[in-house]
Amino acid sequence: MSSIRLMKSYISFEEVEKEFREVFETGMFTRGTHIQHFREQLSQFADVKHVFPTTSATTALWTCLRALEIGPGDEVVVSDFSFPATANVVEDLGATPVFADVDLDTFNMLPSELEKKISPKTKAVIFVDALGNPTGLTKIKEICEKHGIPLVEDAACAIGSAEHGKRCGGIADMTCYSFHPRKLISTGEGGAITTNNDAWADWFEVKLFHGAKGMKGVALDFVDYGFNFRLPELQAIMGSKQLTKIDSIIDERNRIRNLYIELLEPLGFVAQKTGPGVRYNVQSMVFKVPTGCNRNSLIMRLKELGVETTIGTYSMSSGTYFAKKYDDTQPNSTWLENNTITLPCFEGVEVTLVVTAIEKALA
Ligand SMILES: Cc1ncc(COP(=O)(O)O)c(C=O)c1O
Repeated sequence: MSSIRLMKSYISFEEVEKEFREVFETGMFTRGTHIQHFREQLSQFADVKHVFPTTSATTALWTCLRALEIGPGDEVVVSDFSFPATANVVEDLGATPVFADVDLDTFNMLPSELEKKISPKTKAVIFVDALGNPTGLTKIKEICEKHGIPLVEDAACAIGSAEHGKRCGGIADMTCYSFHPRKLISTGEGGAITTNNDAWADWFEVKLFHGAKGMKGVALDFVDYGFNFRLPELQAIMGSKQLTKIDSIIDERNRIRNLYIELLEPLGFVAQKTGPGVRYNVQSMVFKVPTGCNRNSLIMRLKELGVETTIGTYSMSSGTYFAKKYDDTQPNSTWLENNTITLPCFEGVEVTLVVTAIEKALA
């Protein structure tokens, strides 16, 4: 068992106890005031008109692609350096994920790659804020607008991040957050869709409520068929509490990042870079390992020393399923999957202890 964990959530039982008790007493576990409050809070926070909390970022992404009527014969260009959920949702709808390679410094989709991968079949682009870094999102949006292609932002990791003064959630046509425990806001499992588009919002409102809109006599009127990916009340309480603290959480994570950079760059580690005008939430503290360093051995040695670490993230095109089916592995993201490491980053982490363990592991 590692003694220094990778992440600790920013929520305690004491913070939610009062509201949890009220929910248990009233029995209002779903569609109550807390989810409504969380929606309004997120809408204000990201400066975006519509918010739809969901069960995860995966269901959020899947729902966005359904709203865009993506299916067999369509292509969706996706940032290749990501957790496979980004491409899985495309695959699940019978469309083809087209993997766009990423920048070796920012880890985000290269504009030149996007231009190359757009075809007459392209129905959407999914840009991933890799590890929470929104660098290049605005540029990708311009390219999508030029081609008239909707941009879905996989901001699973990027709550609170911003580019050129606008927070993720209010930039792309549709944005998806995750509230998984590895993220800055944890609701156990959870996510949300945001959009400024009223027509899509109407579609989400109905489809995410089983296809119901208004009443027919004393019962619901099912004007369409639909589904249910709703976030429950208890999760909304957890999300709300953390959202009020998010700016200080991000400041703290940047302080930790700066200290890691100061101590590790002299050893040859290179941190993920951000571009100008970016506020980065540091969802994951990721470094490229020094030249000649065996990243897998480093992770294993650190585990023995009691420090939990992991890879940066995945090259989706190199995963067994997608590599076999599409044979289109991307060189930069493959390199990043094999040569990056995520270090512990949370309130109170003892950075110097982690760095000492790294020095020992490298010796
Ligand atoms: C970039 C990215 N997209 C999607 C997901 C899936 O998120 P969830 O677990 O909320 O479905 C993750 C999870 O790690 C992710 O990192």
